[in-house]
Amino acid sequence: MPVIAKYCPEIKVTIVDRDEERINAWNSEHLPIYEPLLKELIDQVRGVNLFFSTEVDKAIRESQVIFIAVNTPNKTYGMGQNGGYDLSAYESVARQVAATAEDDKIIVEKSTVPVRTADKIRRIFEANRKHKDINFEVVSNPEFLAEGTAIKNNDKPDRVLVGGMDSEKGKKAVEILASIYGHWVPRERIITTGLFSAELSKLACNAFLAQRISSINSISAICEASGADITEVQRVLGSDHRIGPDFLNASVGFGGSCFAKDLQGLVYLCESMQLHPVAEYWKQVLIINNYQKQRFAMRIVREMFDTVYRKKICVFGFAFKKNTGDVRDSAAIDICQFLLNEGAQVSVYDPKVLANDVHRLFEKVVCERDPYDAAQQAHAIVIATEWDEFKTLDWSNIFACMKKPAFIFDGRNILDHEELRSIGFQVFAVGRSIRNDVSYS
Ligand code: UDX
Repeated sequence: MPVIAKYCPEIKVTIVDRDEERINAWNSEHLPIYEPLLKELIDQVRGVNLFFSTEVDKAIRESQVIFIAVNTPNKTYGMGQNGGYDLSAYESVARQVAATAEDDKIIVEKSTVPVRTADKIRRIFEANRKHKDINFEVVSNPEFLAEGTAIKNNDKPDRVLVGGMDSEKGKKAVEILASIYGHWVPRERIITTGLFSAELSKLACNAFLAQRISSINSISAICEASGADITEVQRVLGSDHRIGPDFLNASVGFGGSCFAKDLQGLVYLCESMQLHPVAEYWKQVLIINNYQKQRFAMRIVREMFDTVYRKKICVFGFAFKKNTGDVRDSAAIDICQFLLNEGAQVSVYDPKVLANDVHRLFEKVVCERDPYDAAQQAHAIVIATEWDEFKTLDWSNIFACMKKPAFIFDGRNILDHEELRSIGFQVFAVGRSIRNDVSYS
C-alpha cells in the first residue's frame, strides 16, 4: 500500500485495522514490523496520501477500491485442520464491508486464499448488501513479495497479476486495478487472467519455489553421503538456463508464513477434488523439508560425539531468513526444539528477532544481544539464518572463547569453511562431507 501511495499521489490510501495498538504503532516512529526501506517510504507518504486508522466503517464508505489483506492461516481446529485455510477473519471483513458499503465497490482479494474463494465472498456480499443495486466486483490480486525485499519487489515487480470475472463489470474492475499499477509497472508486466487462474497461480508459484528448495535439499543429502559438494552441484545446475541459479541454495529447510501453508493448502485442495496422486506429489515437498531440518539437527548431535546433553549450543539466526525479524515457521524453531529435547543448553543470537518472540516458543532459551557474548563457553555454533553480518564476525575471537573442540554447523553455507578450519574449528555444512582433519586444539 505505501508503494501505491508513493506512485499514485492522486489516490488516498487508508490502511485500517480494528487493533488500536497496531495502528498506533504504524502511526509512530516504531513500526510494528521490520522490513528494509519500509520506514523511509512510510516517512515519505504518511500523512500525505497514506493514512493509518481504526475507523473501518468510515474508510469502507469512502473508498472505491477495498483490498482485503487479513491473515488466512492454516486451520488449527476441526475440519480441514493442518491443511485448509482459516478464512474466519476474511469472511468477517467481507461481511463488514457488505453491511457498511453504500455504493459500488471493487473488492481486491490480496490475502492468499483457496481457489474459488472469490465465488464464496461474492455470495456473502450479495446476501448482505444494503440494497440490491449495490455491485461488488471481486478481483484477485495475489501478493508475490518476499519478506526482506518487499519494497524492492513492489517497486520493480517481475509481474503483477490481476484476475477477474469474464463479464463486462469484471473486465472493467480488472482494468481499474491494472491502471493503478500502470502508474509505475510496465504494461507488459501486468498479467490479467480469470479469477480462479489468479487464485491458483499464487499457490502454484509458491509450491514451485518450495519444490526447488526441497529438490536441492534432497540432493544435499546425497552429497553428504557420497562426498560430492552441493555448492559445485548448484553451480552446474544453475548454469543450465532452463533451471537457472535462483532459489537453489541448499539450507536447513525453508520456513516463513507462506511455503508450508500454501503447500498444505494445495494438498488440501487436491484431496478435496479427489486428486490423490497429485496431493501425494506435493506432500513430498513438505516431507523433504521436515526431513532436512531433522537431518541437520541429528547431524549436530552425531558429530558432537553423540551427545549434546548440558552442552551450550549457540544458534546464530532465528528468523526464517535474513533481513526480517519474522520467525514464523522458521527452521531454527525445529532445530532448537530438537536440541532442547536432547538436553542441550541453547542460546540464540539474531540481529532483528525480538527476545519475546523466542521466549514465547522457548521459555528457557537465553537470548543474547551480542554474538561474542553469545558464543562464550559454547561447544558449538549453529548458523540457522543467512544474515550477512555472520560472514564478517571475528571468528578467531569467537574460537578463543569457545570450548574445544569448537564446532560450527553452517546450515546456510555462508561462511568461509576453509578459513574456519584453519582457525581450528570443526566445520560441518549442508551438502558437504569434507572431513575435518586438523588436530583438536
Ligand atoms: C515467499 C515467496 O518468495 C513470495 O513470492 C510469496 O509472495 C511469499 O512467500 P517469503 O516467504 O517472504 O516469500 O520468503 P522466500 O525468500 O521465498 O524464502 C522462503 C524460505 O526459503 C526461507 O526460509 C528461505 O531461507 C528459504 N530458501 C530460499 C532456501 O532455503 N533456499 C533458497 O535458495 C531460497
